[in-house]
Amino acid sequence: MLDHGQAPPLTSEARKPANPLLRRKPVERLVAEGGQGEGGSLRRSLTMWQLTMISIGATLGTGIFVVLGTAAPKAGPAVTISFILAGLTALFSALSYAELAGSVPVSGSSYSYAYATMGELIAWICGWCLVLEYAVSVAAVAVGWGQYLNELLDGTIGVTIPSAVSAPLGEGGFINLPALVVVLLSMVFLMRGAKESATVNSIMVGVKIVTLLLFIGIGVMGIKAGNYTPLAPLGVTGISAAASTLFFSYIGFDAASTAGEEAKNPKKDLPRAIMLSLGIVTVLYVLVAFVAVGAMPWQDFEGTEAALAQIMTDVTGHSFWGVVLAAGAVIAIFSVVFAVLYGQTRILFAMSRDGLVPKVFAKVDEKTGAPRANVILVSVFCGLLAAFIPLGKLADATSIGTLFAFGLVNVAVIILRRTKPDMPRTFKVALFPVTPILGFLACGYMMFSLDMATWIVFGGWMAVGLVVYFTYGIRRSRLATEEVATAEM
Ligand code: ALA
Repeated sequence: MLDHGQAPPLTSEARKPANPLLRRKPVERLVAEGGQGEGGSLRRSLTMWQLTMISIGATLGTGIFVVLGTAAPKAGPAVTISFILAGLTALFSALSYAELAGSVPVSGSSYSYAYATMGELIAWICGWCLVLEYAVSVAAVAVGWGQYLNELLDGTIGVTIPSAVSAPLGEGGFINLPALVVVLLSMVFLMRGAKESATVNSIMVGVKIVTLLLFIGIGVMGIKAGNYTPLAPLGVTGISAAASTLFFSYIGFDAASTAGEEAKNPKKDLPRAIMLSLGIVTVLYVLVAFVAVGAMPWQDFEGTEAALAQIMTDVTGHSFWGVVLAAGAVIAIFSVVFAVLYGQTRILFAMSRDGLVPKVFAKVDEKTGAPRANVILVSVFCGLLAAFIPLGKLADATSIGTLFAFGLVNVAVIILRRTKPDMPRTFKVALFPVTPILGFLACGYMMFSLDMATWIVFGGWMAVGLVVYFTYGIRRSRLATEEVATAEM
């Protein structure tokens, strides 16, 4: 085992970059440094099921409970097909994630895969996009959680949280307190370490799966065959527009890949967890969507805030069941905040170890084995973002950032197969190189179907990222400092 701070000697691969922006971190070194932080190591405690639950935790939430309501009017009953199409797009990238997570099982996820294959600048850009996928989406999902909580309170005790304390400035309030609370609650659990966090996460995931199974079981009794015809009233255009919207509901399956340094048996379990979580989530989505559009005419989804809860109430004739569904949704969306926050802390952990962000993010608490300072900093940042900023277009930008990172993972698979053909791989993408190429193209296609405003936000985000890299990371990078040391010897 290597102590942090005692890096293995640089290989020629890392020592002689034609250009510092292209310096790569060798796979062997990424793997050898696994788990090691400042002053302690992360603990390997997570089983295959816990990893699967982390991915499901980060994935299943707002998409099915809220976004389905906006997608159904776009596609009609064929929204079920839209879910399958969005799932297929996710599948291509999931296969690439599974191959890389099985061969380079570290906490940095796609950031680390890019560092090993495409060099430091692209890795930084990827890591910066992951901040959009993880930290910014935690804030966006936390805001959605507050709205759902309000609906639950309204439906149960007829009280809503006043907008002064449940909306940010610019949206009729001063602070979004529920959003802040859900992030800080997650922080408290995450401070206790990966094992404890995984237990809390698994309980919440159990609740959300049971809630959706309950919906399927009850909703199926309300299906009317007439609601399925015509199947695609808005044609193929409608189906694909809804698929783009629904892609959001699959974001998060990659979260297990941020737990590479806390998994008991990462090489075997990470690929399984990624594929299994995507499979479980897809089946649930398709069944829930099929039942939902069968039980409620697709036109009625327009303007219905909590469609699934409404269906439960209508089918049973008792608002109690609607409330049960809403309560399940509150826990479901909480667990997305929780699991995604976990992922962000681990990605920053890996980036910090590489010197691209301050060292404090890699500091490990000896007692709990958790990067506590990192957890506090990330949670406070996400909490304040959720509490005070009207997120608007920034929420859309999380999808574009995610798609960019997914696209890079497909490229990384292709590069690594060429540069390291003999590296042991516990999982291999089928039909190579067709699958990752299709994955890359699908991500590009989805990115280009997003609107101009989203691209402008994305461009601004990237510009800030580049300024940060060229003023901080490029000089602080651990590979850079080692190059200088080697040259001075
Ligand atoms: N996939 C996550 C959700 O639907 C982001 O909430």
